Amino acid sequence: MARFSIAVIGGTGAEGSGLCVRWAAAGYPIIIGSRSPEKAQRVAQELRELLPPHSAPITGDANGPAAEAGQVVVLSVPYSAQEATLHQIRPGCQGKVLVTVVVPLKPPKVAQVWRPPAGSAAEEAQAQLGPNVRVVAAFQNVSAAHLKELDHPVDCDILVAGDDPEAKAVAMELARAAGMFPVDAGPLANASVPEGLTAVLIGINRQYRVRGSGIRITGIPRES
Ligand SMILES: NC(=O)c1ccc[n+]([C@@H]2O[C@H](COP(=O)([O-])OP(=O)(O)OC[C@H]3O[C@@H](n4cnc5c(N)ncnc54)[C@H](OP(=O)(O)O)[C@@H]3O)[C@@H](O)[C@H]2O)c1
Repeated sequence: MARFSIAVIGGTGAEGSGLCVRWAAAGYPIIIGSRSPEKAQRVAQELRELLPPHSAPITGDANGPAAEAGQVVVLSVPYSAQEATLHQIRPGCQGKVLVTVVVPLKPPKVAQVWRPPAGSAAEEAQAQLGPNVRVVAAFQNVSAAHLKELDHPVDCDILVAGDDPEAKAVAMELARAAGMFPVDAGPLANASVPEGLTAVLIGINRQYRVRGSGIRITGIPRES
């Protein structure tokens, strides 16, 4: 079955590149977006070398053309780069689903919850992109630590927050494709909770000297 293509903006980085590997291995063609098309192409080549046979292709381009090319767009850049990056990809996102992985952190206190003025980074993204883009927040709590190791199970559930049911279904499909269990976490206004939870997880990583603590939601059927 043909899978939709995914533009991963910031797919040159730790989190985005790990998600690229998981999705390409599951059959989703990937276009990595970067400020530098050369960097995007170099990282695409590096990631292709990690893939098993029969994976979908990974290519690379500048952020704007990458967003134009993807059927679904994933935003995976530092919060400090969100506004400038969204400005580059806004035209290419119109009419599409944008899944944001972005966590608003305020260095140096990255283990302390900080909420941006609009309540969450995801709500700021929705306001900047406009109503023709359906923004969903997901993957905030999954550490990049083992994402590129395909034989390493991902020990984290994925909270999915958004206002559009179809868009949330896309993000939940992507979580399952990457070997994770998606949980509907309600409207986009709830994105502040998974975003804030990441700061808590960073503190837990430090406290317990681990690289990738995660979350599990209990009390719901795991097959749903
Ligand atoms: N790392 C994790 O374990 C993790 C876990 C959950 C969520 N997150 C969130 O996911 C997002 C990406 O995390 P990451 O660790 O992958 O970040 P990262 O590696 O620091 O950056 C990702 C990419 O964003 C672009 N970028 C970086 N600084 C920029 C700037 N000043 N202006 C414009 N673009 C810039 C770069 O791409 P180009 O140079 O190619 O343009 C970079 O490769 C963040 O919001 C993070 O909080 C991360």
